[in-house]
Amino acid sequence: MISLRLVLRLKMKFFTSLVALALTASTAYGQFVRTSGTGFTLNGQKFTVVGSNSYWVGLFGLSQADMNKTFSDIAATGATTVRTWGFNEVTSPNGIYYQSWSGGKPTINTGSTGLQNFDNVVASAKSHGIKLIVALANNWSDYGGMDVYVSQLLGSAGFHDDFYRNTTVKNAFKNYVQTFVTRYLNEPTILGWELANEPRCRGSPGTSSGTCTTQTITNWATEMSSFIKSIDRNHLVAIGDEGFFNQPSSPLYPYQGSEGVDFNANLAISSIDFGTVHLYPQSWGQSDATGFGNQWITDHATSMKAQNKPVILEEFGSTSDQATVYQSWLSTVVSSGLTGDLIWQAGSQLSIGQSPNDGYAVYPGTSVYSVVTSHAAALKARAA
Ligand SMILES: *[C@@H]1O[C@H](CO)[C@@H](O)[C@H](O)[C@H]1NC(C)=O
Ligand SMILES: *[C@@H]1O[C@H](CO)[C@@H](O)[C@H](O)[C@H]1NC(C)=O
Ligand SMILES: *[C@@H]1O[C@H](CO)[C@@H](O)[C@H](O)[C@H]1NC(C)=O
Repeated sequence: MISLRLVLRLKMKFFTSLVALALTASTAYGQFVRTSGTGFTLNGQKFTVVGSNSYWVGLFGLSQADMNKTFSDIAATGATTVRTWGFNEVTSPNGIYYQSWSGGKPTINTGSTGLQNFDNVVASAKSHGIKLIVALANNWSDYGGMDVYVSQLLGSAGFHDDFYRNTTVKNAFKNYVQTFVTRYLNEPTILGWELANEPRCRGSPGTSSGTCTTQTITNWATEMSSFIKSIDRNHLVAIGDEGFFNQPSSPLYPYQGSEGVDFNANLAISSIDFGTVHLYPQSWGQSDATGFGNQWITDHATSMKAQNKPVILEEFGSTSDQATVYQSWLSTVVSSGLTGDLIWQAGSQLSIGQSPNDGYAVYPGTSVYSVVTSHAAALKARAA
């Protein structure tokens, strides 16, 4: 027989844990960034995505103090969001790496030079009130990239675009994604996952099969984004592409679809929560940086409204007149209604020296740093 007292106590205990469970679930849910129409929200309020890229913060073996410096320099501009790399595919392990490959076999590095280092990135971002957008692969061969998967798994017969099509390769990528994503399942500091940085049909010269089309990458993005949704309901998912349009008759290269990207088709994928756009007029052969960029931003704002999903200009850079050109582009972001933006790229003075500068780095005290600071305030003040 069981005493009434015990029954009551058990009932109380059950009830208390139910309440605790419900509280945990709702608090956790509320803390994740969500989308609402063309905007983002956090705890039911407008959340402005504005900030910078620091691909390097989790790759250089930085101390926690240097990670803090990185995020505090970015946060001081009024930034809310940082985009970073959640990958480094290596074949000879050295420094920080997240996956190492040998003889076609991948091993995910969960140790202090691997995912535990990324835990520190997340903790540092969190303590500075910054949300992270994390890309999980690279088109480029920097930090490994898609070509490492392909050459390790398919040998020299593999093409860059086999990354998007070959089942063996896709399964290896899914395995990596599953380990990475599930580690941070309940972590609201992660705003969202990106499938890859700048996916394109073509890799290094000669490595494309020649049969990759925009449909190839759209199919891949559909499969991979729904895979992430099936294991992680908490976080947003985007592609991380450059936002190329697919209008083959356009006279302008970024509008022609020739790199295998169809921005409008990709934004329509139901498991893609927001669209991403990059802007590098000079590397794309556009001499009128200001004019081209303003049109590019406006055209993506049109797609954003048509699809009723957020779209962010998540990388931008001009090789000349940066402060003037950025001022013009960023005022177009505000006036066009485009959801948000992240500049390429953050710069900091660290204990190990200056953070990397590819000609675009923005260090505190510079005129571009002031431009992005006033812009963050303007974007936060915008009605929607
Ligand atoms: C990093 O910043 C956080 C928040 O300000 C602080 O609690 C922590 O002690 C800092 N760590 C180091 C090593 O500076
Ligand atoms: C994709 O990466 C390859 C190297 O792996 C590079 O040659 C190509 O230009 C890249 N394309 C991009 C960044 O879109
Ligand atoms: C993947 O590539 C391997 C090696 O070329 C090939 O044997 C296999 O059939 C490919 N699988 C698919 C689904 O393309």
